Amino acid sequence: MINRRQFLTITGAGASALVTGGITSLVEAAGAGATTKSTANFNPDLDIALKATSAEIPILPGNPTSVWSYRAQLLKGGPASLMHLERSYLGPIIRAHTGQKVRIRFSNDVADETIVHWHGLHVPADMDGHPRFVIPQGESYIYEFEVRNRAGTYWYHPHPHGLTGPQVYGGLAGLFLVADDEEKAAGLPTGKYDIPLVIQDRAFDNRNQLIYLSGHHMQQMTGFLGDWILVNGQPDFSLAVATRAYRLRLLNGSNSRIYKLAWQDGHPLTIVGTDGGLLEKPVQRRYVMLGPGERLEVWADFSQYPVGSELTLASLPFDAGAMGGGRMGRGMMGSGTVLPNGAGFSILRVKVNRQEKETHTLPHRLSTISRYRHRDAVNREYPRRFHLVMRHMAWTINGRTFRMREVANDEKVRLNTLEVWEFINEGGAMGMMGGMDMPHPMHLHGMQFQVLERRGVKHEGYVDEGWKDTVLLMPGERIRLLVRFGDYPGLFLYHCHNLEHEDMGMMRNYLIENKVASV
Ligand code: C2O
Ligand code: CU
Ligand code: CU
Repeated sequence: MINRRQFLTITGAGASALVTGGITSLVEAAGAGATTKSTANFNPDLDIALKATSAEIPILPGNPTSVWSYRAQLLKGGPASLMHLERSYLGPIIRAHTGQKVRIRFSNDVADETIVHWHGLHVPADMDGHPRFVIPQGESYIYEFEVRNRAGTYWYHPHPHGLTGPQVYGGLAGLFLVADDEEKAAGLPTGKYDIPLVIQDRAFDNRNQLIYLSGHHMQQMTGFLGDWILVNGQPDFSLAVATRAYRLRLLNGSNSRIYKLAWQDGHPLTIVGTDGGLLEKPVQRRYVMLGPGERLEVWADFSQYPVGSELTLASLPFDAGAMGGGRMGRGMMGSGTVLPNGAGFSILRVKVNRQEKETHTLPHRLSTISRYRHRDAVNREYPRRFHLVMRHMAWTINGRTFRMREVANDEKVRLNTLEVWEFINEGGAMGMMGGMDMPHPMHLHGMQFQVLERRGVKHEGYVDEGWKDTVLLMPGERIRLLVRFGDYPGLFLYHCHNLEHEDMGMMRNYLIENKVASV
């Protein structure tokens, strides 16, 4: 399925060419070593056996496709807490309620080292799936945590260093939905009117097997792009709906493709939620740029459409920068990518096929978000700055790439403090060929944050009003975030969620230190 040796060669070359600057230290991981036993005094509301395994799944007509897939079994919990998607390589949807205790007994049944990360969940460092916790085939890792997040659309995927791209691509990913009382009070559509939609792109050979990177370094630099757009693991996805309102939960689970989401008929998107759950009130956008790892919740009201009508949720064309395929010839990209980043296409079709009486109206108020205040940040005058730059043919953060336990002095924060973090996508200048502009979706582990401000934005496609854990920066853009490092000390990751960038080392540790300020 995936040519791993070839892949490792590329990653290795990218990583070793770098000289790390600044004063750094190696962190002795607290709680290191795989957690292989469940805790006697931990009494879970939800107990799940989760396995990464290989499978054969029909995707295109003809031969089934060899994939890797998360399969699970519910050991304890209500029947709704685990929902299997039919005929999909995607892992089951895990549903939990805020405050519930969750145990997940993960076992690795694939021929590669791996570990599971709970993207967006606020969990202790040794429950977060850092690559230092990888386990080989045949071993297991027991996760035990309390769900402290608010209601929202979170997800899980592998996080072994250098292999996240191929493993997610191979099929390892699933949704983790959290519910709470505030969400319930908002009165959004539920049950079969609450529809998760995971958008991914894939490439297939003529035997219907997945093709990953061609081995060309240029493809690693841009990120993988496939010419098939799959929704919930299926091509040509269509959704049969009634004349009523729906809650659509979109996840961009692609390795590197960005979607410029819009209704084809020109209606604006009505957005009710982002990465970290519901907004305070709905907002409208003509289109939304959704980078890898980001989620978007949309209120879609089909009550005005006659039965028999069809709508398309599309990705509109956009300029993805020099490396994204726009200005650089296809030959340069070293592969037969027929669908460059920024190309326009249909993502899914909605077919209104039955009459139903609507009982929902769009709520004016969805949730309460307590706003962080800039003046409360410990570094309000001096934001922590992260420049996203290319050095020696590799993407870096401040010129550095990932080392398993390395953390620089300027990557240490204090527990329970609020900080301003600034990411700067300079674009241009640094690279060969006179400039490599690329978008970078930046992600922090462990925390949901708030967007303080953006600069250099030339479009209207961001939804920065709510809680976020991943933010897209197009070339030339910079963003300031307010993030509070609450509850859990330890080593966490921040990285670009373009998975090929992440795998080549566009990822770093940050350390949350639990110590009293020195006088
Ligand atoms: Cu989806 Cu390190 O993240
Ligand atoms: Cu994450
Ligand atoms: Cu990147």
